[in-house]
Amino acid sequence: MKCLVIGNGGREHTIIWKLAQSPRIKKIYAAAGNGGISEVAECLDISPTDIEALSSFAKSQGIDLTVVGPEAPLAKGIGDCFRKQGLPVFAPGRQAAKLESSKVFAKELMREFAIPTAEFSIFTNSREALLYLEKKGFPGVIKVDGLAAGKGVFVCHNRKEAEEALNKIFTEKLFGEAGNRVVVEQYLKGEEASIIFFTDGKDILPMPASQDHKQIGEKDTGPNTGGMGAIAPTPIVTEKLFAEVINRIAKPTILALSHKDILYQGVLYIGIMLTEEGPKVLEFNVRFGDPETQVILPLLKSDLVEIMEAVLSGNLNKIKANWDSRAALCVVLASAGYPGKYEKGKTIFGLREAEKLRDIFVFHAGTKREKGKLLTNGGRVLGVTGLAKTPKGAIENTYEAVKKISFEGCYFRRDIGQKALTQH
Ligand code: AMP
Ligand code: GLY
Repeated sequence: MKCLVIGNGGREHTIIWKLAQSPRIKKIYAAAGNGGISEVAECLDISPTDIEALSSFAKSQGIDLTVVGPEAPLAKGIGDCFRKQGLPVFAPGRQAAKLESSKVFAKELMREFAIPTAEFSIFTNSREALLYLEKKGFPGVIKVDGLAAGKGVFVCHNRKEAEEALNKIFTEKLFGEAGNRVVVEQYLKGEEASIIFFTDGKDILPMPASQDHKQIGEKDTGPNTGGMGAIAPTPIVTEKLFAEVINRIAKPTILALSHKDILYQGVLYIGIMLTEEGPKVLEFNVRFGDPETQVILPLLKSDLVEIMEAVLSGNLNKIKANWDSRAALCVVLASAGYPGKYEKGKTIFGLREAEKLRDIFVFHAGTKREKGKLLTNGGRVLGVTGLAKTPKGAIENTYEAVKKISFEGCYFRRDIGQKALTQH
């Protein structure tokens, strides 16, 4: 069969790497791909958000399965557009994608169906939002309603910080229409984890619990990034906690959606805060996580194509996925300056040496090939994933491989996975 994968990052490279292992796959196309993806797939010069061009391509080439990586095309309705034309697509539709593209929609759904989340209220102006924050007491959290590439969440410790955030949203309109409404919510204390599962709209098939490392600096300091590394399974999510998330959050969310006649087919990602009162939802993403995918899919022993087909045909209950019992760690190598300004076009060295090591996989994010050289081409450049019997072993194995790779200004956190070791 022929597959089309939409997106350019480490997540998409991992999805393609896994799909390519299926004996069913004859050819993979990527829109638009990167320097690593181009080694396994044919890269197309089509933007991931150009839904019309993507569906014309899928139609003309007789693509048997399209897999959508990032949120932007999902929020634009790529799932509905493909399905309307009879094109098989692994993607929730626009209405389902609102779980991620509208925080107001997600919070109201959780309130209606008693799904555990932070207490909240919704506002369309600074004055009332500020009054509410003061009444509830600081710290408080302000979130713009729409998609904001991870930059629309403000944890405010005092009135001044809240005023600054609200100013950016309502006066400077930094987020455009995405900031027409805000959710103001209670600050939750605890450790964060990502619970990601496949669903066909009726049943769910969970993947191992993982943990992202969002901040740029070690010990979780500095600004948030797309994610600087991940571990799976994370020891901070015990079996009991996992079952609680599945029964009190994951299943009720799918039921809530079907109650509203919203069919959810694809992957649902639930960002959880493990609070003293139990797990609560921080956010939903309607897609695989990045870099969580880089630690989850290398642990999947089953055929990803079969799981995706079962999702599309509504037969997920017939699938039993096999998972590797080892631990996986991913360390992201980023360009100097990221998540702020950074330079591109630096030559990357040592990749082949790293890849020669046992149980090491290097997934590309911001890379490109030019005249036989591999160059940096983004903020997050590579994700190095290592497997081992224990989390400690996975950390050692991965950092050994990271040492082999270099490019000018290469930055990575040296403490990925440590939190999981010290806490349990
Ligand atoms: P979100 O995109 O909603 O997951 O928010 C991004 C990040 O902001 C989360 O990963 C948390 O680190 C932090 N955050 C969001 N909501 C809260 C909350 N209610 N309490 C504490 N931290 C939060
Ligand atoms: N790792 C966070 C995300 O994919 O949104």
